[in-house]
Amino acid sequence: MKKKVAFSLVQPSGELTIGNYIGALRQFPALQDSYDCMFGVADLHSITVPQKPADLRKRTKEVIAYMMASGVDPEKSILFVQSQVPLHAELTWVLNSITYMGQLSRMTQYKDKSQRSEENLNAALFTYPVLMAADILLYQSDFVPVGEDQRQHLELARDLAERFNHRYSDTFTVPEPLIGKTIGKIMSLKNPEIKMSKSDPDQNAYILLADDKDTIIRKVRRAVTDSCGEIRYSEEQPGLMNLLNIYAAFTQEEPQKIAGQFAHASYAEFKDALGEMIAQSLAPMQARYRDIMANGEELERIYKEGAEKAYSIGRKTLSKVYRKVGFLQ
Ligand code: AMP
Ligand code: TRP
Repeated sequence: MKKKVAFSLVQPSGELTIGNYIGALRQFPALQDSYDCMFGVADLHSITVPQKPADLRKRTKEVIAYMMASGVDPEKSILFVQSQVPLHAELTWVLNSITYMGQLSRMTQYKDKSQRSEENLNAALFTYPVLMAADILLYQSDFVPVGEDQRQHLELARDLAERFNHRYSDTFTVPEPLIGKTIGKIMSLKNPEIKMSKSDPDQNAYILLADDKDTIIRKVRRAVTDSCGEIRYSEEQPGLMNLLNIYAAFTQEEPQKIAGQFAHASYAEFKDALGEMIAQSLAPMQARYRDIMANGEELERIYKEGAEKAYSIGRKTLSKVYRKVGFLQ
């Protein structure tokens, strides 16, 4: 029997943070045995904000290496780079034709980003979720492991699949998000109201997968908490809540339980324990990452082979789509 398909991409728009790891990467390896998995780098998405070409090339490889370092096995999963499979851009055009402007203008990520970057309000930033829908639908994906921030984009992908199926006859699988139950979103260490993001101008707002132990401990010490002084898992203490969520995500426990364990500790003691724990958890992955990056040829072979496999799967969907809309075969 054919396995269901799990699919996810990560943008190479900066160095990866523990938010990317907890929301996305960490979920990937566990899916490999039950599903046909495809993971990759959304470099087409990343140019919706200006990128330095040399940095983009470097980071694209780094994201693939981090996926492998966190346990994605290229023997089991397809690992690829979005721009190396032209089908994504081709399907996007067709999906654009059934996407309503109104729906795109309600996307919260677009609203946020357009408010922040008036001078670079490009059309790609607006149609970004259509490209994301094309990524997912091209491979008839059943499940999409992502962080909470992508839920609305997933909803659009589902809408477009249903709309196309309805208008032209059954073509696409309608995908479902796979979002961590308790911890779908890791917040900034400097402002627990906004998500931890690699594009944050304040370096102390995030912890990178590449950060060394001293850096991690320093950043956690500087994280915003409150003046209540008591360790509890409560909405009223959003900074602390976020730190407890991070702790719990790494140890795979309930955050309430962690709060209980540290009930008699000071914030400083808890923060030091958290910093140590993060550093210790990341160390084996960082070692694997260095090994993978040291063998550039092998890495290149993996993503090129991945693109070929992805192409041969996606091609079938695109030719079906072209036939249904009335393009000559
Ligand atoms: P991006 O870096 O925006 O391409 O995100 C890659 C993946 O990481 C997506 O699945 C996001 O939902 C997830 N992600 C990014 N930032 C966070 C965060 N702060 N908390 C949880 N998940 C996140
Ligand atoms: N938009 C996603 C993000 O910023 C990245 C992405 C692009 C993606 N295409 C995708 C995620 C397809 C899942 C499936 O995180």
